Amino acid sequence: METQLTFRFRQPDEAAASELIAVLLRPEDLKTTPGGEPPQWVHPQIDEALLRYAEQGLFGARPLETQVIPTLGLISAAHVVFVGVQAAPSAADALRGAASVVARTASRLKAQSVEARMIRDIVIGAAGCEPGQAAQVLTEGFLLGQHRRQAERREPKPTHVVRHVEWTAEAGLNEQESQQLQADWVAGIDRGQVFAEATCYARELVNQPGNRLTPEQLAEEAERMAANLDIDFEVIDEWAAAEQGMGGLLGVGQGSINPPRMIVLHYQGAPDDDEVWGLIGKGITFDTGGISLKRAPGMEEMISDMGGAAAVLGAMRIIGKLRPRVNVVMVVPTAENMPSDRALKPGDVISTMSGRTIEIVNTDAEGRVVLADAMTVAVNRGVTKLIDVATLTGAVSVALGDVMTGAVTNDETLLQSVVQAGHRAGERIWPLPSDPQYRQLIDSDAADLKNSGGRYAGTITGGLFVGVFAEEKPWVHLDIAGTAWLTKERGWEGKGGTGVMVRTLAELLTS
Ligand code: BES
Ligand code: MN
Ligand code: ZN
Repeated sequence: METQLTFRFRQPDEAAASELIAVLLRPEDLKTTPGGEPPQWVHPQIDEALLRYAEQGLFGARPLETQVIPTLGLISAAHVVFVGVQAAPSAADALRGAASVVARTASRLKAQSVEARMIRDIVIGAAGCEPGQAAQVLTEGFLLGQHRRQAERREPKPTHVVRHVEWTAEAGLNEQESQQLQADWVAGIDRGQVFAEATCYARELVNQPGNRLTPEQLAEEAERMAANLDIDFEVIDEWAAAEQGMGGLLGVGQGSINPPRMIVLHYQGAPDDDEVWGLIGKGITFDTGGISLKRAPGMEEMISDMGGAAAVLGAMRIIGKLRPRVNVVMVVPTAENMPSDRALKPGDVISTMSGRTIEIVNTDAEGRVVLADAMTVAVNRGVTKLIDVATLTGAVSVALGDVMTGAVTNDETLLQSVVQAGHRAGERIWPLPSDPQYRQLIDSDAADLKNSGGRYAGTITGGLFVGVFAEEKPWVHLDIAGTAWLTKERGWEGKGGTGVMVRTLAELLTS
């Protein structure tokens, strides 16, 4: 059951046909002048009731603030919900957030259809967002806010899905203007649907338990997705990986009965262009820590240790649908990090595909070890710039919490374009210092590098370790260990997998 989203201009005094009317307002829209025109949001009595709430300080149209008013038969919709929008930290985020609140209110009130009324400034692009972008982010906010993790139960709980959402604006522009706006809105809604659907796809991958999504199953899923989108797919199994010298991937995977895989997707949208993006996503389907075993509390959240893989797969899904004129090689190293008699041990030295050796000092620093080989695979396939996405370090949550993704780079220009794409996507990225001095912390007495530099500057040393394998090409590392999984819902993100970085990468590669 899909949600249909549309846009139209509303005629004055037309009867509302939806079960829920949502009205998006800014604080300044609540200000009335004595003797001035009363607002015309829904119905004189309901509008009046809202103004009284505002006077009493009960509703200020602050960000994400809502006021539900039962209509008691005044109009055919059972409820009206007024929702605050305020441009903070950006106009796009305010709209995304407001739309997610509309979605949550609709499911709480079990409404099948919603009409979301917008003031003219939002519709014409005078509220800080171009019309197409406003349409996109509202659509994203609604669909992402509606999405929930599906539990596996004997009797599945019916999930509420709104069938129809109409974004409406008061008519009253000239013919030509309204035609242009209509076209911008329809295109923005389409793009928003593609972005939201791919984000939900990534969330669902992240939410899969480790026993349901092994490295082999992740590879099969990537193959299915690539086939549906007409993207070239290649998988390197444990035998081929051994032939190619992928000691990093094989080392991490060797403790588990479920063998590792290297997944490669090729998208060629600009055959004449020499630039090739490399998107690399950490795909540890479950991280126990290995012999350097993690403590038990919260270990179940380590099903999210393939959040980087989900992000790049989600981004490829958008690329496969929108077909931008860029070239992309996506690489996902996927393995299960388990303790066993065959597992890597602290002190082991392994050889990577690049020829560099790694001293394993902590088997729980496994992400960078599989990423090392994945970076080499991307470089060997001719990428000219690389972005890796990984749930790499607990240290990034110590520094940035679950609010920001941490970044490490060797190229400030590329970093800035990633940060800006993140801004458009409503995903915040904060650069950490990437000074080469930190590199010394991962020098080893036994090998080219050791896989942990200890607790200090853990996110930076983890990132710089991966960067060694970029072979001097422009590279950005995104540590999503704090942002890939939430323990309580927030704005348009639900509990569990967030699908973070899907939209940032897609914004970067499609605009
Ligand atoms: N997958 C973890 C990082 C992680 C922690 C992700 C919490 C999500 C939530 C990673 O493999 C890991 O264990 N990193 C170690 C690195 C250390 C041993 C250098 C860490 O952060 O403790
Ligand atoms: Mn680990
Ligand atoms: Zn891990």
